[in-house]
Amino acid sequence: MLRRTALAGALLIGVSIWQAPSAGAGYLTRPPLKDITHRYVGSAVTPAHLAERDYRAVLTREFDSVTPENEMKWGTLEATRGQYDWSGADELVRYAKQTRKTIRGHTLVWHSQLPSWVNDLPADELRSVLRQHITTVVSRFRGKVRAWDVVNEAFNEDGTRRDTVFQQKLGDGYIADAFRWARQADPSAKLYINDYNIEGVNPKSTATYELVRSLRQQGVPIDGVGIQAHLSLEYGFPSGYRDNLKRFGALRLDIAITEADVRMPLPADTAKLTTQAQYFKELWDGCHAARRCVEFTTWGFTDRHSWVPDVFPGEGDACLFDANMRPKPAYWAINS
Ligand code: G3I
Repeated sequence: MLRRTALAGALLIGVSIWQAPSAGAGYLTRPPLKDITHRYVGSAVTPAHLAERDYRAVLTREFDSVTPENEMKWGTLEATRGQYDWSGADELVRYAKQTRKTIRGHTLVWHSQLPSWVNDLPADELRSVLRQHITTVVSRFRGKVRAWDVVNEAFNEDGTRRDTVFQQKLGDGYIADAFRWARQADPSAKLYINDYNIEGVNPKSTATYELVRSLRQQGVPIDGVGIQAHLSLEYGFPSGYRDNLKRFGALRLDIAITEADVRMPLPADTAKLTTQAQYFKELWDGCHAARRCVEFTTWGFTDRHSWVPDVFPGEGDACLFDANMRPKPAYWAINS
């Protein structure tokens, strides 16, 4: 968020904790991303990486919101029934408090990284266990998490509901229930549905739009739509991005770009980095053109730690900073 008075301090902190001539001339003379916008500017974070000095320095300088990359997922928090491991999540909360960052909680209801014991439950027990899970996690971070991705990736590409254990055993109503339980546990947190491939206008984003419209009509406490924005140079920039933000905004919902990155076939070259920069800039500018777009979060900020190469072999370099923590053309496209 734009805080002019913080600019001098941020520069001083940046200079004192991280001397990086390799970052390129001018890096520390520009204000950080968080100071050039009225939107929250975030990154997914793996707390274990905070031990890396340059990682911590860039994160602290550039961003004012953090999302735990894996540490608040059910599979991390309660791999074994009844045994909670809050260590990673607590570490991130401590870091956020020390550095005055807000937290985007990720994620409460998701078919992936779900402990196997949850998959095996009968329907009636699954419902009470899901309620318990949401209540426990949201209550524990009450007042500390600004916004929650309550339900993640509930749709297929054709706009039908994804056939998850929740859909199969609890039916369509599980989404509305999840939002109600989350609101009860922390009335002040903003509650989002979150998905990928809903940047442009397509069957999946339209299904999401219809669902949130209907939830609002029913009085279900949903505050926003999270648009992940995992883009790929191979697929091109999503068509109808700005129109899509406009229609969600017209529902009086907040919009957040929650997981932005732009992957490319490796090796990178100047042309690919230039196109990547254009994609990032259009994501950023489109968010700023939409009044209700309140957050721009990237899924990690350095190519050193991105999830992409593990899942898409041969692709990568999807972030704003390279593996040596040098700002890339995409960073300069946004921060110019
Ligand atoms: O923690 C274990 C470690 O103990 C083990 O040695 C290692 C061996 O592979 O695996 C580690 O777990 C991995 C975990 O990341 C932490 O590194 C999992 O295998 C791996 O599957 C997991 O990947 C995460 C992925 O979600 C899971 O689906 C990625 O880091 C994370 O970036 C990614 O994030 C998702 C968002 O939550 C939702 N939207 C899409 C996004 C990208 O896939």
